[in-house]
Amino acid sequence: MAKIRTLPDVLVSKIAAGEIVERPASVVKELVENSIDAGATRISIHLEAGGKRLVRVVDNGHGMSRDDALMSIERHATSKIRDIDDLFSIGTLGFRGEALPSIASVSRFRMITAAEGSKSGTEIYIEGGVVRKIKEAASPVGSSVEVKNLFFNTPPRLKFLKRPETELGRALEVIQREALSRPGVSFEVSSNGRTIHRYGASESLAQRVAQIIPGTPLYLVDFEDETLALHGLLGSPLDPRSSMRRLFTYVNSRSVRDRFINRIIMECYGRMVEKGKYPQGAIFIERDPALVDVNVHPTKSEVMFESQYEVGQSIRRAISGMLADAPWMKGYRERTQKAIEDFYERKKDPGVYENRDYSTTAPSLKAASTQAAYKPETGSPHLPNGDSSIFEKSPEAAGEDMFSNGFYSNLRFLGQVGKLYLVCEDPDGIILIDQHAAHERVNFERIRKSYLEEAFSCSQKLLIPEVVELAVREINTARQFTNEMGKLGFDFEVFGESAVRVKSVPGFLRDSDYARVFADLFDELDGLGDPKSLEEHLDAVCATMACHSSITANRTLSEQEARTLFADMDASENPHACPHGRPVATRISYNMLEKMFKRT
Ligand SMILES: Nc1ncnc2c1ncn2[C@@H]1O[C@H](COP(=O)(O)OP(=O)(O)OP(=O)(O)O)[C@@H](O)[C@H]1O
Ligand SMILES: [Mg+2]
Repeated sequence: MAKIRTLPDVLVSKIAAGEIVERPASVVKELVENSIDAGATRISIHLEAGGKRLVRVVDNGHGMSRDDALMSIERHATSKIRDIDDLFSIGTLGFRGEALPSIASVSRFRMITAAEGSKSGTEIYIEGGVVRKIKEAASPVGSSVEVKNLFFNTPPRLKFLKRPETELGRALEVIQREALSRPGVSFEVSSNGRTIHRYGASESLAQRVAQIIPGTPLYLVDFEDETLALHGLLGSPLDPRSSMRRLFTYVNSRSVRDRFINRIIMECYGRMVEKGKYPQGAIFIERDPALVDVNVHPTKSEVMFESQYEVGQSIRRAISGMLADAPWMKGYRERTQKAIEDFYERKKDPGVYENRDYSTTAPSLKAASTQAAYKPETGSPHLPNGDSSIFEKSPEAAGEDMFSNGFYSNLRFLGQVGKLYLVCEDPDGIILIDQHAAHERVNFERIRKSYLEEAFSCSQKLLIPEVVELAVREINTARQFTNEMGKLGFDFEVFGESAVRVKSVPGFLRDSDYARVFADLFDELDGLGDPKSLEEHLDAVCATMACHSSITANRTLSEQEARTLFADMDASENPHACPHGRPVATRISYNMLEKMFKRT
């Protein structure tokens, strides 16, 4: 008997479903995209148990006749393309004719639809890929698709789903992405019977963006050349986020998460945004559909461009142009210009090296160099011979003595440079300390310890509670962690659909920008998968709080303040790396200096 045979249709659909339907959010995406393709101007989405129990999408699109409805659940049946030429010039979101049969093969699926002019509507009920019922049903023009008990017949897939809150968050993210792409369409979202979001049909993209990316000024990009058109709104590099979730990208109105596009955006922002942070915003790339292949990814979330290089260049020109004109650049350029001028000023007078900001409290570098208080030791035991690079040394490699007790307090403090680095001297050389990283480490350990010992007595009540706008996903996380955050000194309540009312914050955060603290905290928690308790991700939470409460770059530090910081560092368990793993201090040994000056 032949060993190779064709698989039954139900099984083929289940296999296809494995690629297309990962979780309730994927069902939401496919159904909403079908509604958009059907020309709907009103789409409502109802979720139960984060979509695990139920996803229902109702639209006022053109609906389907009985014959079309029956066809729509067949595999590879689509109204959107006809031949190979169409495949290479796709103007709709769907084109494979796979979504509905795939979803129907792994759920209890009910569709009620009616087309303009039909005498009655059609209802189809399918259970795990088996058609159970087809009948006439009363229905307004449009479609309603209901997907119950996703993966009820594929237990291993069901097991991979997360808690309802987490699945809800993912589904809401998909809805936001779709809603941003169609400002003219109204979206209503309810969860467990409660309306949680309403995006009324907006007149402009800017209005929709303001609803979905609240609380930060965004700047217009409007660009067109022979390769593509790019428009949208992007945020300042000074207000970045710790994940890419608030950076929405579209190609021909299709939401994509494309590595190539993301990389170019990040390159444009370059050094203006902190490492590990991402700008916020939404950008829309329009290009001749014949030059964009959307058939490269099972969930249609990546695209391939013909003439990729030119596309990259155009995106780069569009975003760099906007960044160069944006208001924050003025400050950035002024600061850079001033730094250059200062540098030449100092060069003219080589005697003036001290940083004026602390010259009254700390000895100048010039003075330090002539005092010869420490005799440089040649052949420092801590560095391998023949080493010429001074900047690639980790603090560990730079000397074990950095780990000894009281190391930082015993340094001779020379001053601060670049309003960020503290310059010190010890018998082996120069020690440079990143004041922000150091303070972050100290605060991180304190916050963590207080939480674990339940010793957060320093919560500070705000005179007037502050309302902080957050994104939907962040609100969800806020709801989940309201109580546990109390142990960290936060007292807040969810306020309306997209804000929290903050009543108390930990004392050390009282001068911070609460909106950013909250958004970053919830964004961080949300991005960490499926935390059941705050404690599971305590390090990440404490690191974020520490970052917001720490002295920043660009802050002049007096000798007194530096000394306090050194004592705190010595009291820390691990003062040598900031909570994000970056080094706090590095050493340039005399040995290295001698090599640099070719003395050896
Ligand atoms: N909400 C709807 N309103 C009207 N017609 C619909 C709706 N949903 C689906 N259809 C019809 O059913 C067909 C099959 O839908 P399905 O989502 O399975 O495939 P598709 O959208 O063509 O391609 P893809 O698999 O890429 O989504 C569509 O081509 C469309 O004609
Ligand atoms: Mg579809």
